[in-house]
Amino acid sequence: MRVAIIGGTGVLDPGLLKDICEHVISTPYGDAAVKTGTYGEEEVAFIARHGWTHSIPPHKVNYRANISALKQIGVTRIIATSAVGSLNPDMKPGDCVVLDQFIDFTKARASTFFDGGDGGVVHTDFTEPYCKEIRACLIKAGQDLGIPTHVRGTYVATEGPRFETAAEIRMFRLLGGDVVGMTNVPECVLAREAGICYAAVAVVTNFAAGISSRPLSHQEVVEVMHENSERLRKIIARTIETLPARPGCDCPGIAQEATATPQEATAARSREA
Ligand code: HPA
Repeated sequence: MRVAIIGGTGVLDPGLLKDICEHVISTPYGDAAVKTGTYGEEEVAFIARHGWTHSIPPHKVNYRANISALKQIGVTRIIATSAVGSLNPDMKPGDCVVLDQFIDFTKARASTFFDGGDGGVVHTDFTEPYCKEIRACLIKAGQDLGIPTHVRGTYVATEGPRFETAAEIRMFRLLGGDVVGMTNVPECVLAREAGICYAAVAVVTNFAAGISSRPLSHQEVVEVMHENSERLRKIIARTIETLPARPGCDCPGIAQEATATPQEATAARSREA
């Protein structure tokens, strides 16, 4: 098992997979519900982030159990989908955005595997939070398929489950945010800590609070995601087909470096020099 898809709002079924099996995987953080199946030659895992009946709100998702379960079954790459509101006039409802940065405004989530104790203190590099190799495949897939795809975008992660105020959105714009959503952090963080490559394709479902001329509703978000589900499926399928067999990115190395002892770190640096 190498690739997993984490489907966000409106992406509840793995769609492209055949021979699907359902599993409940036990982890030190709780159980995770995972489907596995095949896409062509590839074994692919699928998690519905909000549960199979969309009953788990963003602040209650067991992000650690999900990522830990994927690690256990041997997943090395995750392609995630996210519904987002747009702060950027160029990113319109229906557009795809291949995220390249995030700004974290979540407040009350278990957001790391490294909680001290026996594991010691671990600080992981997040200069480039998303896997460059999966990002490149997502961008090429979107462009080849003629889907409006933005090659970068800064994701502002909010705690939710409420939508933002107009003043919060004005602040996020000043800070350089392009899109806003409630789930990419800590999911992206935990994947990096676990040494799993992670990238996310966001679908703009609405202009954010105060930019949109009407009040925001979850119904609107779900409807736009449904309208775009076929496109998302195609982008993900093409991405899985085009991912190089062996990862050529730095993600596993960054995770290893973070947990290395000082002796291991020195040895690794002298090998690189
Ligand atoms: N804000 C936060 N999360 C979202 C939004 C939004 O406007 N749209 C879709 N997910």
